[in-house]
Amino acid sequence: MALVYIEQVEDMDVEEMQKTHENEIKILNAIDNLAISYDRGEATLEELEAKIEEYVKHVHEHFANEERLMQEYNFPSYDMHKTAHDMFLEELNMALKNWKNYKKVSKITDFIRRAPEWIVLHVNTVDYPTANYLAKKMKGL
Ligand SMILES: [Fe+2]
Ligand SMILES: [Fe+2]
Repeated sequence: MALVYIEQVEDMDVEEMQKTHENEIKILNAIDNLAISYDRGEATLEELEAKIEEYVKHVHEHFANEERLMQEYNFPSYDMHKTAHDMFLEELNMALKNWKNYKKVSKITDFIRRAPEWIVLHVNTVDYPTANYLAKKMKGL
């Protein structure tokens, strides 16, 4: 069983946003699987940590790209959408700090395992209408 399925999130009208969401879901599931393997002694800490670093980089790029598109096409609810991203990043940074301070990888894997709840809600209620607006603007409508 995967942590999160692509079917749980709405299809985006903007292809690059859709691809980003698909990739993020893949990384989240990979971390969940690696964390299980790590607990069983079947994966190394280095493998798990590398995937976590990949996730952190991906989230930053994901949000930055949406923010760039919103600014490019003058999305009216930019501030609301950007604030939602910033609040998530703050929580992510807190979990990363706890991971480093306590030297316990579960501090970050526990956070990442709860992340799908936020992501699914964000994609379906915030990204979806944003992509709808952007797609129209991109077509010159
Ligand atoms: Fe998104
Ligand atoms: Fe977003």
